[in-house]
Amino acid sequence: FKRITTNSLQLMKANGEKFSMLTAYDYSFAKIFDQAGLEVILVGDSAGNVMAGHETTLPITLEQMIYHTQSVVRGAKRALIVADLPFGTYQSNGEVALASSIRMMKEGGAHALKLEGGLEVCNSVKRIVEAGIPVMGHLGLTPQSIYKFGTYNVRAKEEAEAEKLKSDALALQEAGVFAIVLEKIPSKLAKEVTESLQVPTIGIGAGNSCDGQVLVMHDMLGLYNEFNPRFVRKYMNLFEPVTQAIQQYINDIKSGDFPNKEESY
Ligand code: KIV
Ligand code: NA
Repeated sequence: FKRITTNSLQLMKANGEKFSMLTAYDYSFAKIFDQAGLEVILVGDSAGNVMAGHETTLPITLEQMIYHTQSVVRGAKRALIVADLPFGTYQSNGEVALASSIRMMKEGGAHALKLEGGLEVCNSVKRIVEAGIPVMGHLGLTPQSIYKFGTYNVRAKEEAEAEKLKSDALALQEAGVFAIVLEKIPSKLAKEVTESLQVPTIGIGAGNSCDGQVLVMHDMLGLYNEFNPRFVRKYMNLFEPVTQAIQQYINDIKSGDFPNKEESY
């Protein structure tokens, strides 16, 4: 297998070939996704939600993101592995951002890093890229800013925020990002941004014009039954069969059916 690189994604955009990204946080799922042919695995800070049970992505630490990244790296041979810089590890200045990034690369083993924000983080992006680390941007509904937004509603519906998003995208490209995630913005705006950039965009709730798409694995596999925004297509509804399997297991033990003779020594 030839490893997918940031250049592969650039080429795919140039050839009009769409690519796929999904989150993963552990070895076993990363291995399945990689062997299925997924181009990019994102070790998202959504791990704070789906793995740790936090209400927001803010509490997850650099050490915890490093642990998830290490596990994913062991499972994937072909996919490009991008890891999120967690909240608080890059916002203050370029030196801090670079120090966090070096730990994520060196200890975690990521191939690239993602951070949230536009113009505000461009100095940090430059600093990290100068050190030889590929950086992915993230605009629109950036969950680390949830307390500023106050809601998980669609972003950039108004002219002013849409204009800011367009100039942020160009500023990130100028600062050296290799791709930008666009989360929960009108598809018309995502199309404009995608056409204005040389680097690929990756949409989540951003319509069909982005160069790639991303979803959180727990959402698309239906491991949750509470979170149902319209941008999530449920390719499976694992919540039900997993519940049934667990109930069957409990019943089989109670009834004395498990383990049977063949399952015993
Ligand atoms: O953490 C995450 O899962 C993400 C994706 C939703 C893009 O950042
Ligand atoms: Na994230």
